[in-house]
Amino acid sequence: PLLDELINLYDLEEVAKRTLTAKAWAYIDGASNDNLTYRFNNRVLKHIWFRPAVMRGVRYVNMSTTLFGCKLDAPIYISPTAAVSVAGPDGELAQARGAASSGIIATIPNMASHPLENILDATPERAFFQLYVSNDRQQSEDIVRKVTASGKIKAIFVTVDSPVVSKREADERTKGNLSSVNPYKGSSPAATAASRKGPPRGGFARQSGQQVDPSISWSDLAWLRSITDLPLVLKGVQRHEDAVKAMELGFEGIILSNHGGRAADNALPAILTLLELHRNCPQVFGAMEILVDGGFRRGSDVVKAICLGASAVGLGRPFMYSVMYGQEGTERVSLPCVLLQPPPVPIMSMSSRLTTP
Ligand code: FNR
Repeated sequence: PLLDELINLYDLEEVAKRTLTAKAWAYIDGASNDNLTYRFNNRVLKHIWFRPAVMRGVRYVNMSTTLFGCKLDAPIYISPTAAVSVAGPDGELAQARGAASSGIIATIPNMASHPLENILDATPERAFFQLYVSNDRQQSEDIVRKVTASGKIKAIFVTVDSPVVSKREADERTKGNLSSVNPYKGSSPAATAASRKGPPRGGFARQSGQQVDPSISWSDLAWLRSITDLPLVLKGVQRHEDAVKAMELGFEGIILSNHGGRAADNALPAILTLLELHRNCPQVFGAMEILVDGGFRRGSDVVKAICLGASAVGLGRPFMYSVMYGQEGTERVSLPCVLLQPPPVPIMSMSSRLTTP
């Protein structure tokens, strides 16, 4: 179908299911064990209700926000997803360009399908960078120094929810193989690591996960601080005790995330972690940026997290599927709330029109 015919992100997901290869679909849609956390991320969001206020003069609505010094036209960002080209050849390049033209921001994944230099080149101004602390610490250090020196990276998201590889059964069944699907064999970190591991077994996730250092702990913050002066954001916080710890140690932000249900199954749906923080440690909200991702598929889902104190919301799978349509797909997904009703003006200029005079 044409991009214009998709009226919401569920339509986009349906196209992906029908269009992508079985391996690509299993890799992207798949989650851990019984997929409970994956399913409930979205389902729990649907059980949170609004108390709509009336008579507020909403002709002009300003959805913009500032995150780590970056002005965003809407409080959403592209969550990092490894090997984006599995869904479309432009992969991370389409995300970088689409985020730029839509006034949001992309996160460059550590395990990208395109070479880092090319993604940075496709990034006009700014992006976040997602880091997996590798078994090869020197390799992690080199990449952190490189992205810091680029001047384009505004924060580093350190992913900590996957110190060991989870069981992704859909992926296992289809025997996804990064080195066979990835069109950038050799130059891509993900593909290179996969090919080094010998015959691929157990799907994409298992291959890429083997590079992550399982010994990562709180004491590694000092090392990270010594190699970059960028804001450090802990991605994958799933309980309030860890939010408090991150605050006390001076992280500039945390992402409440269970990796889209791909890390520990039965972990709390991300929006419930946000509620847990309200109840148990409200002081963290003023102290650092609180981001959240997992299951957000509508503008109204995003509004719920913002009402509950999140600074911004990340979307993962929708921005993988969007690259089936290249840069335009990314632009289309960038304003999910607009998709509910065709705007009277083209989407691209909508955000500027919406600014309160
Ligand atoms: C991810 N995610 C992820 N996170 C991360 O920190 N590093 C990574 O390499 C990846 N790779 C990845 C691949 C794919 C295919 C998916 C779907 C997800 C997790 C991602 O950043 C985010 O936390 C979730 O995708 C959010 O959930 P939704 O929006 O996909 O429901």
